[in-house]
Amino acid sequence: MKKITVQDILAAKGRRKLTMLTAYDYPLASLVDRAGIDMILVGDSVANVVLGLDSTTQVGMAEMLHHSKAVTRAVKNALVVGDMPYESYQVQIEESVKNAERFIKEVNCDAVKLEWFDKCLEVTEKIIQAKIPVIGHIGLTPQTADKLGGFKVQGKDAETAKRLMQQAQDLEKLGCFALVLECVPDKIAGMITKKLKIPTIGIGAGIDCDGQVLVTHDLLGLFERFTPKFVKKYKDISAVILQALEEFKDEVTSGKFPAKEHSFTIKEEELKKID
Ligand code: KIV
Repeated sequence: MKKITVQDILAAKGRRKLTMLTAYDYPLASLVDRAGIDMILVGDSVANVVLGLDSTTQVGMAEMLHHSKAVTRAVKNALVVGDMPYESYQVQIEESVKNAERFIKEVNCDAVKLEWFDKCLEVTEKIIQAKIPVIGHIGLTPQTADKLGGFKVQGKDAETAKRLMQQAQDLEKLGCFALVLECVPDKIAGMITKKLKIPTIGIGAGIDCDGQVLVTHDLLGLFERFTPKFVKKYKDISAVILQALEEFKDEVTSGKFPAKEHSFTIKEEELKKID
């Protein structure tokens, strides 16, 4: 398999469904890549599912670059997308562009993702002009959920649905190469998908999107604090890990581990020389 490019993602529209998953570290990124997933998002959801924080706004550039670096070290094929943290693009436009460039130049991401906010179009335009591939993100945008009335489905009435369609078209016009649609009624996501030439990647946005993204920790059952309705838990890895950890504890306390095969030996004649 060869490295997936922005052109491959664009060319997939209408031909095959796209897949995207999150990863924040070397081992999981390596597995996601080996599974043949098209895009790996180093999401700011790292705040919730790895760092134990309440809000994605609590991570900054330092954390995102640190995790992105571990991911790009592992990935051979997937397109790696760095998620711009809240504080990195809600600032002066020049600084936002510099921050986007850091994801590409310092930690080898292939693209960045930006959540919609009131100055989104200006910032996105400048980042794209700096030749950085951008994925837009509309619908429920967790970084600014307080302005959307909380973590709620977006576009449930004609007025807000039309606003989403406009945002999608504006972002496409600026040159975004894909668009994440989060928590949008399936019919609206389908309408947006039909209108756009770029692929839509849904999360809680129904079957008609061009692709799907999930937080890997959610689908593996590795994040137990909260499971959104749109998540399908493919495995309960937490239970598997817990069982292994308990077995280790039992074997250490009972003297079963380490066994001979986990131990190193020294020749008898060398031992004799010691005392
Ligand atoms: O940070 C993240 O994981 C995301 C996905 C939910 C799309 O933005």
